[in-house]
Amino acid sequence: MSAPIWQSGSLAKPLRIGSVQLETNLLLAPIAGYCDLAFRTVCREWGGVGLACTDLLSPQGLLRGSASSLDLAKTNDFDKPVGMQLYGSDPEIMAAGARWAVEHGATVIDINMGCPVDKVTKKDGGSALLTNLDRAVGIAKRVREELDRMPLSAEEWRRRMGVGAKGRGSEGAREGQKEIGNAGLPPPSLPRSLAPSLTPGPVPLTCKMRICWHNADFEAGTQCSPHLARMLADVGVAAVTVHGRTTEMKFSGVVQLAGIKRVVDEVNGVIPVIGNGDVKTPQDAERMLRETGCDGVMIGRAALTEPWLFRSVWHYLQTGEEIRQPSLEEKIATIRRYFRLMQEHRDDRYAIWQIQRRISWFAKKMAVKLPDGRMESVKPFKEAMRTTKTPAEVEACLDVFVSGGLRGGAEAEEEVGSEA
Ligand SMILES: Cc1cc2nc3c(=O)[nH]c(=O)nc-3n(C[C@H](O)[C@H](O)[C@H](O)COP(=O)(O)O)c2cc1C
Repeated sequence: MSAPIWQSGSLAKPLRIGSVQLETNLLLAPIAGYCDLAFRTVCREWGGVGLACTDLLSPQGLLRGSASSLDLAKTNDFDKPVGMQLYGSDPEIMAAGARWAVEHGATVIDINMGCPVDKVTKKDGGSALLTNLDRAVGIAKRVREELDRMPLSAEEWRRRMGVGAKGRGSEGAREGQKEIGNAGLPPPSLPRSLAPSLTPGPVPLTCKMRICWHNADFEAGTQCSPHLARMLADVGVAAVTVHGRTTEMKFSGVVQLAGIKRVVDEVNGVIPVIGNGDVKTPQDAERMLRETGCDGVMIGRAALTEPWLFRSVWHYLQTGEEIRQPSLEEKIATIRRYFRLMQEHRDDRYAIWQIQRRISWFAKKMAVKLPDGRMESVKPFKEAMRTTKTPAEVEACLDVFVSGGLRGGAEAEEEVGSEA
């Protein structure tokens, strides 16, 4: 491997969001329907996750106690620090939602300003806020005011940062890794010197946006996100995340690092900017940090296939070297761990449903090379997983696969959709 052209370690700067000092500058993205408590736990156990976020939450759903919203907002002491993401367009409702989130364990509140889905944008939320900057800033201002009214005690900050929770810190991370089977890997090298902020005070607010709505605005250099980020900083937003696509692009096309860089340049260090989009390898993360000058990297879809990616990226940023990839046994142990956590957090039926809908993501890189150079398909494994009806069948399927069965022929890998 050729030596990196950047100085190893120079990009491995743990991120600070307002008063919240993270252990790394890597964040797990919200992915509606996928980044639940069980998944966040698995990623955290592998190490390298500075901050993980819930999927987008409806404040109305939280406030009326809807079962599905409460499930989405579930967290625990190990799942810290955690962002809770709210979407909507009414400042008062968003403020009430933020209050609920702080009362239920959020370390950071995030406002969704990037969702391109009609259901959200038709009600003026998500990336529709990029077409109405006054509304976007008004919501942030009102939410910030609400958060300022409910400062947390030092003791509560300890909980929100996960201090003392089983599985925190390098000792605890090792414990979690034993459970998911990667005890053979060295412990993650997280900075020991960083004491989490435990001073009493309010919860920080962040916003996650796209570069703008229309492609034409980006191409003309008139994207709204730099200006919006600056205005958000002025009303007390502590960091912004920028997904380097326009709303029109949805999830297609290539992420525009230039669009993220424009935000970084405009904000000029006043608040941190987190870059997001298409980061699939440690080298992608390094490139995003180096080319845009952003302060942190948020990773979404690639983590659904490699929940250990944060650890790999963090190691690479620190040393310029690639860490050993998990063995097949460790990968299967990760799937098993996710499944069992899901059974604990929800129930058998839901856990089976979840494992079946995400098995293509998990198995995406599990094909093994045959002696003739072709890849051996894991299609039979995926198909078998999708027909399981009981937890015992799920476990048996994983057992058979790890001992060499349920694979067959050399076929092209089934593609998982970008929005799977
Ligand atoms: C199925 C799906 C659901 C998503 N749900 C959310 C969400 O709830 N909130 C949000 O801010 N972004 C959401 N996103 C966007 C991601 O957080 C992220 O910005 C995007 O996928 C680009 O990053 P990636 O290439 O690392 O996945 C979603 C993306 C996908 C594909």
